[in-house]
Amino acid sequence: MANPPHGGKLVQVKQSSKDSSALAGFKQNQKLQVSKETATVVSNIANGIFSPLEGFMGENDYLNVLEHMRLENDVPWTIPILLLGPHNHHFGSGDQILLVNEADQPVALMEYEGNFEISREEYAAKVFGTDDKAHPGVAKIFAGNECAISGKLKAAVKPDHGDYADFTLTPKETRILFAEKGWNTVVAFQTRNAPHINHEYLQKSALALVDGLFVNPVLGKKKAGDFKDEVILATYQAIMANYYPKDSVVMSVLHYEMQYAGPKEAIMHAIMRKNFGTTHIIIGRDHAGVGNYYGPYAAQEIFKEFPDLGMTPMFFREFYYCTRCAGIASEKTCPHGEEEKLAFSGTKLRKMFADGEVPPKEFMRPEVSQAISKFKHPFVE
Ligand code: ADX
Repeated sequence: MANPPHGGKLVQVKQSSKDSSALAGFKQNQKLQVSKETATVVSNIANGIFSPLEGFMGENDYLNVLEHMRLENDVPWTIPILLLGPHNHHFGSGDQILLVNEADQPVALMEYEGNFEISREEYAAKVFGTDDKAHPGVAKIFAGNECAISGKLKAAVKPDHGDYADFTLTPKETRILFAEKGWNTVVAFQTRNAPHINHEYLQKSALALVDGLFVNPVLGKKKAGDFKDEVILATYQAIMANYYPKDSVVMSVLHYEMQYAGPKEAIMHAIMRKNFGTTHIIIGRDHAGVGNYYGPYAAQEIFKEFPDLGMTPMFFREFYYCTRCAGIASEKTCPHGEEEKLAFSGTKLRKMFADGEVPPKEFMRPEVSQAISKFKHPFVE
């Protein structure tokens, strides 16, 4: 049986296709333009990925999340879900606002509840633990608006996922799938990367202990140097086809903008996967981290604060190829020193592909390297 949704209820906002007239006929002053990333948040709320949220947070939830890592009703939540927009609107409480995208096409209908000011300094300090604008999450919050517009979604337009549509499952769909497969325990794997051997080892170590593995790579806006969406999908297809058992693994992409908030984001990653119906989540080394902002295992330690999360984290120390063991090892299982460790930084990997080389098979499956090599520019610039 799939894990019950976070907060008890899988939120489902009425959704229609693009040509529907359900959202038409709204006055100009009741329109609000939102970014592509906000439209993705809308779709995630509508599909219940952010259950129990039914819309964009109001001030009480916002402050409670910052101070206590919980919604006002005490449900665990670590990163605010805000609609940050301009001050110069004329919405009144209860107004139905039409959210539109940059091409003025309807995204959703929202019942306006109010607005409030956020302090970007406070947001950065509490969510990211730093005010350093070199942190991509901090840079984003400082580049954005300070007015948070709150309200419940009433209806939404189904996004067009284009080439990714066939690989995008909603929580409703994964829950049916896990039930059909008869899985009681399912471990989720969050990733923003093309898979290397250590990722594979991590996933298979976890899978050995549960009924099924849900591989859920994140597609969406990422920082420079990360793999592009199309590369992530192509490499996962390559590794799945060659190295993963079909009946104990499901892969689906998650449209979501990485925040790089380390420990706090690890909790959000767990909440989203709980809503997809998984019971467990893999948390390895420097989960959702960037640079050296977070301790390598801070994203594991934070789970101690959430005994009521309703998700079982599976913690792993760093995996790497040890030349002496001639296999994948971790600092917990291998007695050899740093000099035996085959280490690959993102910088080294990028340089290799740029120079037309591929990493050794001890670091990356040849099928995965080949899939990356097919792209002229595999990394976000
Ligand atoms: S993340 O931003 O999504 O965390 P990434 O895709 O690299 O980045 O990692 C996915 C998951 O694998 C995370 O739980 C991360 O901690 C874990 N992980 C990545 N590489 C390793 C490794 N070499 N050893 C242990 N865990 C790892």
